[in-house]
Amino acid sequence: MSNPSLLILPGDGIGPEVMAEVRRIIDWFGAKRDLVFDVSEDLVGGAAYDAHGVPLHDDTMAKAQEVDAVLLGAVGGPAYDNLDFSVKPERGLLRLRKEMDLFANLRPAQCFDALADFSSLKKDLISGLDIMIVRELTSGVYFGEPRGIHMEENMRVGINTQRYTEAEIERGARAAFELAMKRDKRLCSMEKANVMESGILWRDVVTEVHADYPEVELSHMYADNGAMQLVRAPKQFDVIYTDNLFGDILSDCAAMLTGSLGMLPSASLGLPMENGRPKAMYEPVHGSAPDITGQAKANPIACILSFAMALRYSFDQGAEADRLEAAIEKVLADGARTGDLMGPEGGTPLSTTQMGDVILAALDDSL
Ligand code: IPM
Ligand code: MG
Repeated sequence: MSNPSLLILPGDGIGPEVMAEVRRIIDWFGAKRDLVFDVSEDLVGGAAYDAHGVPLHDDTMAKAQEVDAVLLGAVGGPAYDNLDFSVKPERGLLRLRKEMDLFANLRPAQCFDALADFSSLKKDLISGLDIMIVRELTSGVYFGEPRGIHMEENMRVGINTQRYTEAEIERGARAAFELAMKRDKRLCSMEKANVMESGILWRDVVTEVHADYPEVELSHMYADNGAMQLVRAPKQFDVIYTDNLFGDILSDCAAMLTGSLGMLPSASLGLPMENGRPKAMYEPVHGSAPDITGQAKANPIACILSFAMALRYSFDQGAEADRLEAAIEKVLADGARTGDLMGPEGGTPLSTTQMGDVILAALDDSL
């Protein structure tokens, strides 16, 4: 059997710096755990625009469709802020999501014990926090038609459309219920059924799907209340299922609560391919961080944890994913810190590569 394949798209800003550490981790699993991947690398975002004039080349799109999983770093940066909307770096990312049909975006918000003091909330509100947000990723207002800016009676009008079919709501809901079954069996669905018809449909469909998962306790919340509850008492949640735009906002909110924005991974999953693996792309939740690019300061942990999610969700290597996550917990407990994790007491932060070094050492110790 051939090795599983990975396409690495480091992208822009700190993307290439953190991805370099992920490559060392991948190599470690090849050398020490006999888990060898065929790794190829290509361009996305501003890097692809610089080379090809588009944020994602058709050849790269075709490769992404063929591999077992895509690992993406980050896209965007001030150099690309004034580009035409159609070739902005973000369009490359959105094209990957849409054409690979990655409808279920898993965004865990976990509080690492060693970092609980970094939260903007009181420690007891967030220590032990472990939420999974499932964001619908390929529909809703991000992609709905009609859209655009046009003239009406001498005035510009901007239009975007929130549109959901019941099939789209249902397949995401199933992914969310399946995850809830493996966790604490609680699912909270968030929409605005009080003002949006798409929200009414959302609530109906999620309720219908619930019939197939009677063991899961289902609740519904308006998304604005959800945002408030996330900040008030985040530990009340286990799995949250919500639409593309609300999910974008609520997941940033949840990520910041953990105090660990540089630590959070994500997985975007689609339908099973012929080999049974889901179409998949893994990426850190943080962005391209232009303010620290090229200074060897970036925290590679979110990107490394994204690879751990790939081990778990694409390659059925849950035990190896646990090993990698435990290595990261250990170095944090031992006090390893990149600059983003430094408290007021100060100290000398580790560089991106030094953080990679201590994680590799912890992996060696795990054998
Ligand atoms: C995210 C980002 C993207 C989104 C941008 C970069 C297009 O904010 O993944 O959360 O809005 O989905
Ligand atoms: Mg976002």
